[in-house]
Amino acid sequence: MKISPSVLACDFTKMGEEIVKVSNAGVDMIHLDIMDGNFVPNISFGPAIVKSLRKKTSLPFETHLMITNPLNYISEFIESGADIITFHLESDSNTMKTIEKIKSLKKKAGLSIKPKTPPKSLFPYLKYLDLVLIMTVEPGFGGQKFMENQLYKTTVLKQEIIRQNLSTLIEIDGGVNTNTIKVINSYPIDICVSGTCIFESDNINQTVKFLKLGGKF
Ligand code: DX5
Ligand code: ZN
Repeated sequence: MKISPSVLACDFTKMGEEIVKVSNAGVDMIHLDIMDGNFVPNISFGPAIVKSLRKKTSLPFETHLMITNPLNYISEFIESGADIITFHLESDSNTMKTIEKIKSLKKKAGLSIKPKTPPKSLFPYLKYLDLVLIMTVEPGFGGQKFMENQLYKTTVLKQEIIRQNLSTLIEIDGGVNTNTIKVINSYPIDICVSGTCIFESDNINQTVKFLKLGGKF
């Protein structure tokens, strides 16, 4: 299991050190939650922060854009150092144009759905995407309860990915911790985002290792 820590849960007074800490713990990428106070009720941080964090690790940066008009900000986040740009199907931007923009700048494209959006709405885009991100909480805040009833979406998507002979990765985000990882591990999931569980752990190295092994030591 690949693990992508969400820095939303880190100590914002020392984000750089926090990123170095998780990078050294063996995570696979860094998840940066971008919120605009419009698409979701919360505001987090923007491209300037992403840019300054870029110097702290060589791991891929995954920006999860929870913003109303992602298409308008693709270039800016890529210039700031994003390697993977994940945006929402429910946003106002044209989905195909947004994917094409990311691809034209030679970066990886991800598309995410909120809990109320059915998985089949992603089917037409699968062949253009590097990953799909299934939200297992309502986007907006860290530390929420895991919605186990979203996991079936990963099975539905995996079947379609196989049917179309693609290699699109499946990622989940929200409420992933050392308990929920056990049920998660029985679904076709490639990457787990985890914020609170990692940054509030008193042994980050062990927690990351445990999550990577799918809850089995
Ligand atoms: C929610 C964000 C998540 C969140 C995950 O809107 O997209 O990335 O920070 O945090 P935890 O692991 O605390 O649920
Ligand atoms: Zn996220």
